[in-house]
Amino acid sequence: MVEDWITVMNSDPMRQYRARRDEAHRNVKSKYNILGFISSGTYGRVYKASSKEEESRLYAIKKFKPDKEGDVVTYTGISQSAIREIALNREISHVNVVALKEVILEDKSIYMVFEYAEHDFLQVIHHYSQTMRTSIPPAVLKSLTYQLLCGLLYLHQSHILHRDLKPANILITSSGVVKIGDLGLARLTYQPLLSLYGGDKVVVTIWYRAPELLLGAKHYHKAIDCWAVGCVLAELASLRPIFKGEEAKLDSKKNVPFQKDQMLKILEVLGSPNAEVEWQGLKDMPEYQNFKRLDPYQNRLWEWCRARTLTQSAYDLLRLLFTYDPDQRMTCKEALMHKWFAEEPRPTANVFQTIHTQHMPPHRRITQDDAPSMMPAQPAVSHPPLQMQGGTQSGSTGFGGLSAGTQGMHNTRRKGRIN
Ligand SMILES: Nc1ncnc2c1ncn2[C@@H]1O[C@H](COP(=O)(O)OP(=O)(O)O)[C@@H](O)[C@H]1O
Ligand SMILES: [Mg+2]
Repeated sequence: MVEDWITVMNSDPMRQYRARRDEAHRNVKSKYNILGFISSGTYGRVYKASSKEEESRLYAIKKFKPDKEGDVVTYTGISQSAIREIALNREISHVNVVALKEVILEDKSIYMVFEYAEHDFLQVIHHYSQTMRTSIPPAVLKSLTYQLLCGLLYLHQSHILHRDLKPANILITSSGVVKIGDLGLARLTYQPLLSLYGGDKVVVTIWYRAPELLLGAKHYHKAIDCWAVGCVLAELASLRPIFKGEEAKLDSKKNVPFQKDQMLKILEVLGSPNAEVEWQGLKDMPEYQNFKRLDPYQNRLWEWCRARTLTQSAYDLLRLLFTYDPDQRMTCKEALMHKWFAEEPRPTANVFQTIHTQHMPPHRRITQDDAPSMMPAQPAVSHPPLQMQGGTQSGSTGFGGLSAGTQGMHNTRRKGRIN
């Protein structure tokens, strides 16, 4: 009887499939050496790793956070952001968009393995403002902007909106190639677009947010990314965010407030838009009544640019990227054909080509101790059982190591899950 049952079980095609799959499955640690921890972001933790198979080639491994309710780690499936980021990344391939090498599922955690980028725009800005104490050289500024636009043009032509372009999400390899990263908030343009507060409840930095979003636009398009490129270019040129507004928080009823301070920061530089000439849709925007109460401002973008020694052409490009009316705002394609890029110094394939080695931004910092869940497993015997964080039994789900801190580390070791 029992033998019959075992025979039936063993001939179950699903069971056979799983056995074959598990046999072929190689876990993260068998393919990569984890060199250290890079960053803990919105959706997970990022590690620097080298391949065990390809002559120590470097990768960044993003381990997604599990769902959390307060302090309690719950497993309710794969997060929406992970699915979106994986789905989009698998379809795309462009030199200026960070490449996804593979996705590994292990112990109910998702690991996305990306090509490694040694620098990012935020780090370059920091390097010039804090260490060099000088502005970014024009050739570098132009090359960074040009390659960013090339990557974004590709995304837009693939019907993808990035929606979270900001210096920390724009990477640069050690050979000076710009790579747009973090497609965690990206969307296909033909999908219905909720407000940025909708659905996933993630609030992106408001400093790069286009005016139509600040005014509550229900329908927005690629132009929001082009506005963000303007903000990034201006930040590279002045080494600080151009529109650094204070964010108004959601009220107790979770109503989305009008981002008045952010809007004012924009008006102070670009002046008040003219509803008759410049932006006819302005009056129809949901937040128009709030907007109308703001004082009128003069445009002083040219003065802003002159104070930062930007040329007339660079000013013209910024002016066009900062067009208030999203339907008239400059597109990536138009921006790439702008005369600023045709003028000397021309953009270079290696953005650092004109920089002396001594003046290169430093390598990305990694830390060892902050990466408990990814550290090599220790012998399992010597650790006494530990209380789980928040009283959860998450250890049994394999998530123990993710919740940061040493409890996670001990838990992971005790279970001997990562080896
Ligand atoms: N491919 C990569 N190479 C090197 N560092 C990376 C890479 N991808 C991300 N990072 C680092 O990790 C940080 C967080 O990654 P990101 O993809 O932006 O996730 P999040 O959604 O958490 O912001 C980045 O700001 C960057 O510093
Ligand atoms: Mg990010």
